[in-house]
Amino acid sequence: MATDPIVRINDLNKWYGDFHVLRDINLEVGKGERIVICGPSGSGKSTLIRCINALEEFQEGEVVVDGIKLGPNLKHIDPVRREVGMVFQSFNLFPHLTVLENCTLAPIWVRNIPKKDAEGAAMKFLERVKIPHQANKFPGQMSGGQQQRVAIARALTMNPKVMLFDEPTSALDPEMVKEVLDTMVDLANEGMTMLVVTHEMGFAREVADRVVFMDAGQIIESNAPREFFADPQHARSKLFLSQILRH
Ligand SMILES: Nc1ncnc2c1ncn2[C@@H]1O[C@H](COP(=O)(O)OP(=O)(O)O)[C@@H](O)[C@H]1O
Ligand SMILES: [Mg+2]
Repeated sequence: MATDPIVRINDLNKWYGDFHVLRDINLEVGKGERIVICGPSGSGKSTLIRCINALEEFQEGEVVVDGIKLGPNLKHIDPVRREVGMVFQSFNLFPHLTVLENCTLAPIWVRNIPKKDAEGAAMKFLERVKIPHQANKFPGQMSGGQQQRVAIARALTMNPKVMLFDEPTSALDPEMVKEVLDTMVDLANEGMTMLVVTHEMGFAREVADRVVFMDAGQIIESNAPREFFADPQHARSKLFLSQILRH
């Protein structure tokens, strides 16, 4: 599938002490590919995507992002993080900074971009997520959906080549899920490479090129959404789908 991979994960194994949390993970992500990762709670989804931007160390294997190799030796963390944007379940905005300051902090301090230029660029991204008029508010003055859209804009200001999302809508009130998913659909339509941990199966059907199903630290199944939903290949994927689609 991935003829021109931007992320390659080879034989990745990770332990927390004695607990084998990621087992023989192999995954290639093509440029512009959209992958949805799903699976039961505790199956290792967060740990896996956190390995892609070096938020977690691992003991065996390698992760290669745009040609930059991460291995157990923890070299190349900074260059990899520069390529990869991440959006968390809990937004992780700085509460004491305005929306605009949240979106200019890293460009100014990590990329050394002059403040005026960083602000101009940040405003463009805030327009893309449809909240430019909130630029001077603090995160606490905004709804969860708005905060998550700021978090997406903030990640985009670093011009990442890959965006990781870890359950970006699961902390939101139901009426705010759509505005965040719409923002993610726009991003997908612009060609961004995305790995999205989510149980929003509507999003998976609409946007994903592939659904990766994990259980107990392993990739059990990786398939186009149509096939995955219509004809899951493993007992564990069938059980999982029957549990989440029932609601
Ligand atoms: N820092 C940690 N130390 C020890 N165990 C952890 C740590 N983080 C996660 N785990 C365990 O690893 C497993 C996978 O966690 P996680 O990747 O968060 O799963 P998921 O995102 O699929 O719910 C879980 O059993 C969790 O309890
Ligand atoms: Mg998780």
